[in-house]
Amino acid sequence: MNTLANIFTTSIGKKLMMAVTGLGFCIFLLIHLLGNLTLYVGRQTFESYVEHLHALGPLITVAELGLLFFLIIHVSTGAVLFVQNLRARPVRYAVNKWAGGRTIGSATAPYTGFLILVFIIFHLLNFHFVEHPGGLVFNTVSATFSSALYVCLYMAAMVVVAIHVRHGFWSLFQTLGANHPKYMPIIQGAGIVFALLVGFGFGLIPLYIGWGI
Ligand code: HEM
Repeated sequence: MNTLANIFTTSIGKKLMMAVTGLGFCIFLLIHLLGNLTLYVGRQTFESYVEHLHALGPLITVAELGLLFFLIIHVSTGAVLFVQNLRARPVRYAVNKWAGGRTIGSATAPYTGFLILVFIIFHLLNFHFVEHPGGLVFNTVSATFSSALYVCLYMAAMVVVAIHVRHGFWSLFQTLGANHPKYMPIIQGAGIVFALLVGFGFGLIPLYIGWGI
């Protein structure tokens, strides 16, 4: 019981929750990206992927509930850590130093995280809680990206996701104990590769579908 209370109350416990849920999101993003890459192949391949996915039935519902649970933990813990950090440092530094592991990604993580939360709600309203024209998810995707505004919004959102993920990837391995100096360059490099994969992999879909680029 004490251990459970410690996870919710101590700083390391909160960081651990951020790391485990963050890892879950990285795995989800990779699976979601792999599925969505079929959009580059064409309508039929994408629809065949969607059909296989929906055939998983109750397993999908379990995964969705798991994602929602992770989202609630990640967002609420992130918000608590953000407020605690603000309180611990009420007076802003006159000079903002980026030394000591502080990067643009880490300093902006609460803000990019909030933007991603807004994006996820927007995205689910676009693609999840809708009637797909003709029962085909592809029709929803192509109708959405026929709008230049949506293409721009999605591409901007993917830049934000890439920045957040680039920092989060490195940070989660730090928290999970993979912080030996020997592995640091590998983890840093893997974080950059993952962020680029997510940024370009998702980010070029709107252009490709909407404008055939
Ligand atoms: C251009 C980029 C993206 C495209 C085209 C896209 C497309 C889709 C589509 C078509 C669905 C509905 C699938 C279905 O109902 O079968 C979906 C669901 C979803 N997407 Fe995306 N997505 C993109 C990026 C993202 C990103 C970056 C995130 C997370 C930050 C994300 C999170 C989700 C979530 C949580 C769901 C609901 C999954 C479920 O409940 O089944 N998507 N996406």
